Amino acid sequence: MLFSRRQMLIGLAGLGVVGLGAGGVRYWLGRPENVATHDYELIAAPLDIELVPGQTTSAWAYGGQAPGVELRCRQGERLRVRFINQLDVPTTIHWHGIRLPLAMDGVPYVSQAPVLPGEYFDYNFITPDAGSFWYHPHVASGEQLGRGLVGALIVEEREPTGFIHDHTLNLKSWHIDEQGAFTDFSVPREAARGGTPGRLSTVNGKHAPTLDLPAGQVVRLRLINLDNTLTYRLNLPGADARIYALDGNPVEPRPLGKEYWLGPGMRIELGLKVPAAGNELSLRNGPLRLATLRARPNAEGAGEWPPALPANPVAEPDLANAETVKFNFEWAGAVSVGLDQGAAHSFWQINGQAWDINDKTCADRPIARLQLGKSYIIELRNLSQYQHPIHLHGMTFKVLASDRKSIIPYFTDTYLLGKNERARVALVADNPGVWMFHCHVIDHMETGLMASIEVV
Ligand code: C2O
Ligand code: CU
Ligand code: CU
Repeated sequence: MLFSRRQMLIGLAGLGVVGLGAGGVRYWLGRPENVATHDYELIAAPLDIELVPGQTTSAWAYGGQAPGVELRCRQGERLRVRFINQLDVPTTIHWHGIRLPLAMDGVPYVSQAPVLPGEYFDYNFITPDAGSFWYHPHVASGEQLGRGLVGALIVEEREPTGFIHDHTLNLKSWHIDEQGAFTDFSVPREAARGGTPGRLSTVNGKHAPTLDLPAGQVVRLRLINLDNTLTYRLNLPGADARIYALDGNPVEPRPLGKEYWLGPGMRIELGLKVPAAGNELSLRNGPLRLATLRARPNAEGAGEWPPALPANPVAEPDLANAETVKFNFEWAGAVSVGLDQGAAHSFWQINGQAWDINDKTCADRPIARLQLGKSYIIELRNLSQYQHPIHLHGMTFKVLASDRKSIIPYFTDTYLLGKNERARVALVADNPGVWMFHCHVIDHMETGLMASIEVV
């Protein structure tokens, strides 16, 4: 595949205009002077942050924040981001969950050349679906996501939804020690199991923060799992909370229930009826508190439950005429490709094939070829003892059934496939290209659990 000539930053004198000046702001996300080419400038750069009180962590940030600055746009509109790489490593941005043309998908050697240090790349696409999405690199993901290159991308509905208060909660556990220094993002013996977990849980970059919410109102909470590894068992004891959307797609509002398992890459949107002033709720991962939600006095009075969010324009698969494709996810045994520097471990396979992150030609051998416009039923089978959040780029699929739990069919881009579970999903192959299909436990993805699916 050929890519357009590398875009160098040399000579872009006008770039510094936005955000600089006021004391030389180093990082920004701003509206540029020249709106002919892009709407936003987004910089990736090193940034020292304080995760452990009194200690410094050398993070990597988007727009001067880790997790990255929240990007917002409106459904059906074009988002144009000039991404500027001020790191000293190559990177890309992938827009998780957005149905876009392949050239904007951010996968190195598949959709674009990596953006080298000092270079920029203009991302430019329409956001067809409203909801909670996110963005992250697709290069050296363990380290790059691990250091903080993860951010929310919120696509607002065309019309007001009835929610006035809207909060994004970015969930990430950092691989750092007590001094704030990074620890290994991937340990082979963990990669071969559930993945290497971080130690310090955070919400929006703070450990166990308190968030003030307006008493009596129904607020929209967008919980995004930006973590490399962890599946959060989310619960909000005693709360009146309803699920409004899963992974960027609306569902018929229903109670949150006892807990919801949010795997890496996944999102859940809740409507929460904030209790009376002075009360607190605990947002938890299993028994562990992630954040405190505190009701603050509010003059607006009580809020109403908004109706269901409008459905996204995702094509309904034609099940009667669909062809079935099967994917098995399995543990490949402790096969090590090599022990020399740079060699990848290979612990996982899809249909007997392991992805090699050091082999730039893997995507040339897709695991399936789908015919453009046709419907497919995809059988996902987990032959391992660990769960895998299975993610597909470029298209949204419908979850139909599972042999482990009852499913109310819904659209998603990531399905958390449980231990030894077998599930059926379906899609219309309506986006031409070579699309990555992988487990979003980054450790698993980087040790084999990735493939490409071609739509022609
Ligand atoms: Cu968030 Cu390839 O994915
Ligand atoms: Cu993705
Ligand atoms: Cu996995």
